[in-house]
Amino acid sequence: MSQHRDQIKAQLLARTRQRSRQGPSNAPGPAAEGGASRVAERFTRFDSHPGYQQIAMMREGARRLGLTDPFFKVHEGTAGATSRIDGCERLNFASYNYLGLSGDARVNRAACDAVASYGTSVSASRVVSGERPIHGELERALAEAYAVEDAVVFVSGHATNVSTLGYLMGPKDLILHDEYIHNSSLVGAQLSGAKRMSFAHNDPEALEVLLTRHRHQFERVLVVIEGLYSMDGDVPDLPRFIDAKNRHQAWLMVDEAHSFGVLGERGLGLREHYDVPPGDVDIWMGTLSKALAGCGGYIAGCRELVETLRYLAPGFLYSVGLPAQVAAPSLAALELMHQEPERVQKLHDISRYFLEQAKALGFDTGSSIGAAVVPVIVGSSPLAARLSHDLFQRGINVQPILHPAVPEKSARLRFFLSCEHTREQIDQTLDALATAMATP
Ligand SMILES: Cc1ncc(COP(=O)(O)O)c(C=O)c1O
Repeated sequence: MSQHRDQIKAQLLARTRQRSRQGPSNAPGPAAEGGASRVAERFTRFDSHPGYQQIAMMREGARRLGLTDPFFKVHEGTAGATSRIDGCERLNFASYNYLGLSGDARVNRAACDAVASYGTSVSASRVVSGERPIHGELERALAEAYAVEDAVVFVSGHATNVSTLGYLMGPKDLILHDEYIHNSSLVGAQLSGAKRMSFAHNDPEALEVLLTRHRHQFERVLVVIEGLYSMDGDVPDLPRFIDAKNRHQAWLMVDEAHSFGVLGERGLGLREHYDVPPGDVDIWMGTLSKALAGCGGYIAGCRELVETLRYLAPGFLYSVGLPAQVAAPSLAALELMHQEPERVQKLHDISRYFLEQAKALGFDTGSSIGAAVVPVIVGSSPLAARLSHDLFQRGINVQPILHPAVPEKSARLRFFLSCEHTREQIDQTLDALATAMATP
């Protein structure tokens, strides 16, 4: 009996040893003698990483077409309607300096004064290490701009969405978002563990279908849209989204990264564009890095929402506070936006002019409404890259948007307008584009 047991034990041991030599069926390589597993070399090298290989492929494609890398261009001064790149002043359509306030002497002065008063870093989380007066001033000014109870600023716009969605929502919740929503909201949604579904771009009916079908299966439901979509330059039908979220008792969050400072007579964003009461949107989000000439992001809304995030959102609680010299210029930019509404008017005029002229020349501008962002869809990534390169040679800086950022047939040049662009500059640019397009 005991001999039989010993035999079984020996067989089991042999089988176990053999299995551990083969490794699990999906393991990257066999286990080596002595415990440490031997792994295929490609899993140990960064140059085998799919991300690196994608970059290498793009570079090789550009090299074969004789194009220079369109990314990481060095701007040698302030990037506004014009910018000095490679030692040459060029027309610039690749920056979000919509109101021309980055580089404004008064905004620069605010940054310098803040450094002089508070040094260059607040060194730790505001929760534990304390804040500077400028934090509260900026947050109050943002809350006033939205006519809501409170606002909180984070050190990055991207981190704002990651932390807000990641903290507020959980596994029993549902996040419904526009299919073109920014990466920061997607990452936040993934982090939250909530169920995530997208609906067709700018389609409140598609949202309605999802809400009708799924609302009852979840606790909290959050709908996320943007105020102005930066790939297409179009806006959502806000009143219809508000109506849908109200009927289904969901929250609505609007990312105003590109719409605050741009939409509405006074630049107050999507709510001014549609003249809706501020409380109709539960979570207003925006960045300081675009019209507001700084860096960072904010959430504006009711006191309870903001207080929750201020005490508990990981990207706020466990991250350093905005440095004073970053908060101060954004506050100065916001004040200047209020004091000089003609900046917003000029931005509207020049954007509309660009759109009209581009359409008159037969360019495909997609669904852009002509507010700071106008794409020219050219239909293939190599053509978009080549046109961007040709325009750069002609003194015009505009970024190509290539597959996979957009579907291949929607590859485009994306023009960002600033209130400082002139009609002559737009004419010059569109003429150059027409010539480049006509060149085989
Ligand atoms: C819609 C949207 N949300 C959030 C962000 C992130 O903002 P930031 O670049 O200020 O971190 C961006 C950046 O471009 C954006 O376009």
